Amino acid sequence: MNFADSEIVNSILMENGNKPVDNPESADIILVNTCSIRENAEAKIWNRLKFFRSIKKQNRDLTVGVLGCMAERVRERFLEREKLVDLVVGPDAYREIPSLLAEVSSGQKAVNVILSLEETYADITPVRRGGNGVTAFVSIMRGCDNMCSFCVVPFTRGRERSRATTSILDELTMLSDQGYKEVTLLGQNVNSFNDDGVRFAELMYKASLVNPEMRIRFSTSHPKDFPDELLHAINEQKNLCNYIHIPAQSGNNEVLRRMRRPYSREQYLSLLENMREIIPGVTLSTDIITGFCGETEEEHHDTLSLMDTVRFEMAYLFAYSERERTLAHRKFEDDVPQDVKQRRLQEIIDIQRAGALVRNQSDIGRRHLVLVENESKRSADKLSGRTDTNKVVILDRKDFKPGDYVEVVINDATSATLFGEGLRVSSIQEFEPDLVQV
Ligand code: 5AD
Ligand code: SF4
Repeated sequence: MNFADSEIVNSILMENGNKPVDNPESADIILVNTCSIRENAEAKIWNRLKFFRSIKKQNRDLTVGVLGCMAERVRERFLEREKLVDLVVGPDAYREIPSLLAEVSSGQKAVNVILSLEETYADITPVRRGGNGVTAFVSIMRGCDNMCSFCVVPFTRGRERSRATTSILDELTMLSDQGYKEVTLLGQNVNSFNDDGVRFAELMYKASLVNPEMRIRFSTSHPKDFPDELLHAINEQKNLCNYIHIPAQSGNNEVLRRMRRPYSREQYLSLLENMREIIPGVTLSTDIITGFCGETEEEHHDTLSLMDTVRFEMAYLFAYSERERTLAHRKFEDDVPQDVKQRRLQEIIDIQRAGALVRNQSDIGRRHLVLVENESKRSADKLSGRTDTNKVVILDRKDFKPGDYVEVVINDATSATLFGEGLRVSSIQEFEPDLVQV
């Protein structure tokens, strides 16, 4: 989300006559887009700001600003106590950046952290700098109304609102014309997308028609309201990717209740079964928080058993980090000791790795259509890309290049990566996938 937001801010800055530079030392303005989701995300920003303060000593005219969720959350501290920044702009106030910069140049500190009920930046075309020119993010909604008890997002990013369908489709058409081959539609909960009655499944269907050779992904879905219609659309349209990120957060019903997640373990598991039935070969990933308030050893074991039952292809695993203003902060005690949180996290990581390894090994010998994204970080002779199912694949470069859809046969796998041999350049419509055992 922040990645996509930074591209909007790039666009606003460049409209305002600013030009990008390649390193912070040669900048007149440095804006840091921040995240408040966990304490360590914020800790990184404080360190970064200290580094920028050292640059400011060399360049007294440098303006340093903080954007995003942390701006909303800790504005006073930024401006008064720490004196590290000149400008603080919340996630719904990016259009004001030029006028706020003007205030700063007249010697004042400038702040706008007002949240909006309508802002979606629909009319601003993001400026995508430094990307690979192959994959792009497109924001389709902002904010969140779910109020999970651990989560600060509804407070920092405000109420849920959807961007107009036409403006989303126009952006997809533009990306397709520019040669992009894959787009990820972004929202805190895309299943709540509602643009005058157009719901997410319909949006995905429409998105799939923009260019049958452009892949469409999405993130994130809440398990409480996942429509079957979307599963059928994914199964039917070849360019809608067979990969679903569906955060469970916990495998225990009591913990889910305390988290204010309105589904049970049983409902979650049957939703996933349904996904695997309707979309043969679909891959699934999840988010888990371990060590939430009051989590007992038995409750933790339910999460381990959920991971073991599902064997997610991928998972984002976190120790619980208490956030001010959330319901959990007001009502519950953050009472799982740090060392216990860490030990439980490690147990979840271990079980996740083991499950993903089994899943990835089942790809050995199979063919996949891989969209090549980059040169591999480890070797210039290799390329890195992704399967439709969102697995990273490393292959020999041969004559392939970023942006190619390559038919690849997989010959090795770890818990995180597949390795394969590129056979030939192909396309989404041409490629016939191997039959998958359900
Ligand atoms: N502590 C730890 N992890 C959190 N997440 C959200 N809030 C917290 C928190 N307070 C995780 C959730 C969410 C992901 C984006 O971040 O798993 O799905
Ligand atoms: Fe946070 Fe829950 Fe909204 Fe996700 S759905 S952003 S976890 S409140």
